[in-house]
Amino acid sequence: MIKAKGICKSFADKKVITGVDLDIKPGMIFGLLGPSGAGKTSLIRIITGQLVFESGEISVFGKPVSELSGEDKRQIGIMMDDHGVYDRLSCIENLKIFADIYGVPRSRIKTALAQVGLADASKKPAMKLSKGMRTRLQLARVLMISPRLLFLDEPTSGLDPMTMKYVHKLILEQKANGCTVFLTTHNMEEASCLCDEVALLNEGKIIDRGAPGEICRKYNHQKKVNIHLKSGEDLELEHGASSSGKIAELMAQGQIETIHSSEPTLETVFIELTGRKLESEEEIRYA
Ligand SMILES: Nc1ncnc2c1ncn2[C@@H]1O[C@H](COP(=O)(O)OP(=O)(O)OP(=O)(O)O)[C@@H](O)[C@H]1O
Ligand SMILES: [Mg+2]
Repeated sequence: MIKAKGICKSFADKKVITGVDLDIKPGMIFGLLGPSGAGKTSLIRIITGQLVFESGEISVFGKPVSELSGEDKRQIGIMMDDHGVYDRLSCIENLKIFADIYGVPRSRIKTALAQVGLADASKKPAMKLSKGMRTRLQLARVLMISPRLLFLDEPTSGLDPMTMKYVHKLILEQKANGCTVFLTTHNMEEASCLCDEVALLNEGKIIDRGAPGEICRKYNHQKKVNIHLKSGEDLELEHGASSSGKIAELMAQGQIETIHSSEPTLETVFIELTGRKLESEEEIRYA
């Protein structure tokens, strides 16, 4: 669906993307993760033809980006920043403009608003929407085109947990419909549960990639088994044959309440690899 090789981009003399390769298969949810300033938005802008790059090759739908036809572009949904929402216009009027630009029948507007749970707010001006509602309006806009490829730049940033779950459901529905999703997020839990594959971008370079579980297992340096006994005691045993007798004994005696292997979370791996704590949304907003 997307192939990139050796992508490089600088702003003035600052290199922001330094030799990125991508191979995103059709139908997957791909997550691009990275600390603030890593280059995630820049990379989306490059792949979607909004930003020129200095060297490398990118193909989308098997064609170089520069050769994509109008019809190809109409199958690509892009949701990033706040762009394209007209504050004074109602939800429905916003979608009408977008439907006309994309050549989508206006009959789809009502369905799209219902799909994102905005049917009752269809006549509200965009400026009166809450942050979560505004995000859902932006989603309605891209879902309306039934995209084959969908770019979502931090689609759940600043949303409450309920709205976030709602957005996750919409993303998974897109995948079920065969859409390929490219998303960025600072939320590692979100990436772990949504993404088939993630790439860790740091200072413009991909430092590792793979399925979230695969990455966590790869960086499991501790190789321990953590056991919580019904007595309240916690045990940490080696993850190996040397512990098998003890674990079997505790199991047979019915003493074990919980037992877990010690692989790190994606967030722990990320902090280890980037050497940086992931900024919380609050920290980013008030930086
Ligand atoms: N138009 C621009 N002109 C100059 N520098 C830019 C421009 N756009 C981005 N940059 C720089 O490129 C780097 C990467 O920025 P980018 O927005 O791609 O990061 P990001 O990973 O999306 O960050 P965040 O998680 O905060 O959204 C940053 O150092 C940023 O300052
Ligand atoms: Mg960004």
